[in-house]
Amino acid sequence: MGNQFVAVDIGQTAIRAVEARVARGKAPEIRAVHEEALPDGAVRSGEVVEPTTVASALKKMWSAAKFKSRDVVLGMGDQKVVARDLVMPKASRKEVIGLLPLRVQELIPMPVAEAVLDFYPIAETAPTDEGPMVRGLLIAAYNDAVTNNVQAIRRAGLNTLAVDFVPFALHRSIGNKGQGVCAVVDIGAATTNVLVSRDGIPDFVRIIPAGSDDVTRALANQLEIPRDQAEELKIAQGLHPEIVPPNDAKSAGIIVEVTRELMTSIINTLRYYSSTHDGVRVDSLVLTGNGARLRGLPATLAHSTGISLVAPEPFADVKMPKSLTGLGVSDALRFSTAFGLTMGGAA
Ligand SMILES: Nc1ncnc2c1ncn2[C@@H]1O[C@H](COP(=O)(O)OP(=O)(O)OP(=O)(O)O)[C@@H](O)[C@H]1O
Ligand SMILES: [Mg+2]
Repeated sequence: MGNQFVAVDIGQTAIRAVEARVARGKAPEIRAVHEEALPDGAVRSGEVVEPTTVASALKKMWSAAKFKSRDVVLGMGDQKVVARDLVMPKASRKEVIGLLPLRVQELIPMPVAEAVLDFYPIAETAPTDEGPMVRGLLIAAYNDAVTNNVQAIRRAGLNTLAVDFVPFALHRSIGNKGQGVCAVVDIGAATTNVLVSRDGIPDFVRIIPAGSDDVTRALANQLEIPRDQAEELKIAQGLHPEIVPPNDAKSAGIIVEVTRELMTSIINTLRYYSSTHDGVRVDSLVLTGNGARLRGLPATLAHSTGISLVAPEPFADVKMPKSLTGLGVSDALRFSTAFGLTMGGAA
């Protein structure tokens, strides 16, 4: 027995999908892996804005990858989801979910009536006059965004089995499952997802509304060049313009400045985590997302935080067919979310 489904991660620049067969208590058995690039403007900050474009990319993907299942586990993330720390009474999952709309309005930017709410318990905490309490993470997604993404799936003739939260997927595929405090940071085009786990349990989530596309946009705007050229310049130079002739001081300055802002947000987020969690130090950092490929970024981040980098290994905990053994380092950066979506037991 087992369920077969396709895990789908809809990003701003591409859709990544992994077909898996999952049986309770066993590692997911991967069947096929595929990426389909999206044109600019089809998806923004985690929300599908051009459903027809996304649906046709999905159809193309299904035929190119020869996916057999039409059932989808959809990842929701980016800026259409917020995560907050929350303490709730210790009760059944059903009771806690039922209480959420009454308690969380002041924590989230959208009206509760327009949100899909979920609670991820972490640990029991000091009792109050309500009795035993549990500390955890509140996850709230904009209803509209979930609906739009699910509609794009439906338009492609596919069926959404479950919706899962991208940072948890990242944790399952590449977070530290053992001892210690580990931060997973996924640098995408528009968004940077941060998840910190302690002794293998997610402890903290932040979604930073900035990503690698900010660098491309700054280059295109300030140098008045087309996006494609800005993208090439960014990829070629990174934070090491001196090794790439022609040495353009202006573009180098822009790349360094915008990347530094992003890195400062990441560093401040990790500091905030420590200061609100008994001063614990993050002892390992796993970077994913294509934004983490910027030349010099991983080393600079490791140097400024003093945290050691660990390479993502999303393929370690799944069964892979021989045909996919060639997946390498850059595939690990791109597919970590989709692999993690196969591990949720959501289907
Ligand atoms: N070799 C590279 N060096 C530097 N940056 C790169 C490289 N390859 C891709 N990028 C950048 O990575 C970003 C895309 O990252 P990724 O594919 O992880 O995002 P996404 O999943 O599509 O978007 P999001 O997660 O924000 O919705 C783009 O801004 C792109 O310019
Ligand atoms: Mg992404």
